[in-house]
Amino acid sequence: MPEAFFQEDDRLPQTPEPSTMVIFGASGDLTSRKLIPALYDLAASRRLPMEFAVVGISRTEMSHEEFRGKLRKGLEEHRSEEFSEDVWKSFSAGIFYLPGDSKEPRTYSELRDFLRSLDEERGTGGSRIFYLSSSPSLFPAIVDGLGESGMSAEDESSYSRIVIEKPFGRDLASARELNSEIQSRFREDQIYRIDHYLGKETVQNIMALRFSNGIFEPLWNQNYVDYVQITVAEDIGVGTRGAFYEEAGALRDIVQNHLMQVLCLTAMEPPVTFDADSVREEKVKVLKAVRPFPEGEEYAVRGQYGRGWVWGEEVEGYREEDEVAPDSVTETFVALKMFVDNWRWAGVPFYARAGKRMPKKSTEIAVHFKPTPHTPFARAGDDGMEPNVLVIRIQPEEGVSLKIGAKVPGSGFEIGAVNMDLLYGTAFLEEAPDAYGRLLLDLMLGDPTLFIRADEAEGSWRILESVMKAWSEKEEIPLYPAGTWGPEEADALLESDGREWRRP
Ligand code: BG6
Repeated sequence: MPEAFFQEDDRLPQTPEPSTMVIFGASGDLTSRKLIPALYDLAASRRLPMEFAVVGISRTEMSHEEFRGKLRKGLEEHRSEEFSEDVWKSFSAGIFYLPGDSKEPRTYSELRDFLRSLDEERGTGGSRIFYLSSSPSLFPAIVDGLGESGMSAEDESSYSRIVIEKPFGRDLASARELNSEIQSRFREDQIYRIDHYLGKETVQNIMALRFSNGIFEPLWNQNYVDYVQITVAEDIGVGTRGAFYEEAGALRDIVQNHLMQVLCLTAMEPPVTFDADSVREEKVKVLKAVRPFPEGEEYAVRGQYGRGWVWGEEVEGYREEDEVAPDSVTETFVALKMFVDNWRWAGVPFYARAGKRMPKKSTEIAVHFKPTPHTPFARAGDDGMEPNVLVIRIQPEEGVSLKIGAKVPGSGFEIGAVNMDLLYGTAFLEEAPDAYGRLLLDLMLGDPTLFIRADEAEGSWRILESVMKAWSEKEEIPLYPAGTWGPEEADALLESDGREWRRP
């Protein structure tokens, strides 16, 4: 086996205790595209105990071998170059499959017996992680089944944790209901609501940049910051997920979770320590301070992509995608103007946008600072003078850049804007671990810092309630050609403030 495969990965913490991860909805895309590759990587870097096991459950009839074969195929597709037969052999020996209907009590008694037998045969130690990656409509039945069968119970030597994939509810009411259903069977510290953005190194780097450097924090407020722009742009369309997307739309798919998390990390106060409660407490305070949206589309714009060109290729419009209604008014683009009404951010607009079929994939936060109070170079021509902008690039080309003014070489005193650039990938020798890998490991180690707390999920829905209500009553939606930065209405949102969106 290649040496590199078994090198210790010292960016990540210690190896967790033995456990079994039970995945509900295991025949779905997430298991083969994200979960198994992430677990495989952890196995390859020796972060998983030898006894660790995965048990997949879904309604499809499949043997253990067939399930392993399906996962292997997915892995080879996603890890074609790094696939190691030896790592797979030992990792896959701990993968099992149980066909079962999650609405049937029998499924849970069979699962409980199977897990007990695994404990005896493999020494999995009695600790369980239940990963709900099935259709959200099944979450309540699964939670009940686990509770009724006694599998949510813990004892001194073993734990029981439950992971809930997004979307966490569809609105505030359903998120509350879901929270109370889960909390009737599991304590809050057993519940891990996952948002894979929090597992991204560069998302965590927002906190590192802000709270490990003395020079930014004094400027990080309404005295110096003019406005902030957050972009979560994707060049891809909805692909094979048309049916899901028709239900979700960009607001529920990206804004409620990923984008709001990025907003929280950008705007929050420094936590006292980097522990779960301190960090999440500060994020919740931001959500509480976000001003409710006024009625109308003045502060919230949506759009849907029509036919167009992305990277030189002609692509279909959203309404032509599989499993999408030909007259759909589902939004594939959202632009928002928000205010965080607290001492630090009073009056500073946070413009945020998220969209599919944009010209390129780009997630970034741009902090635009106020201009200098006076320009001494006026007579020498200050045309080149631009306010400073700090850009935190989350993906791709992960890094940080600061736009500063510098003297243009020559006998005059002309100022030009230049970028000071840190490329994350070249600054460190280590490669960033995958977001899911990081989160799964934290989950096994019992660290919920990078997971969403109940009040966070609800707080984020609360902000968007009025927007969702207004949009649900609309029968039309502004269109934008695929491969552009959204509808004209999004530009107008900033133009009325004398500003414009960045073109990353
Ligand atoms: C998922 C959304 O949560 O995030 C997808 O459901 C989206 O629609 C994806 O494409 C984006 O994630 P990433 O890591 O590629 O930015």
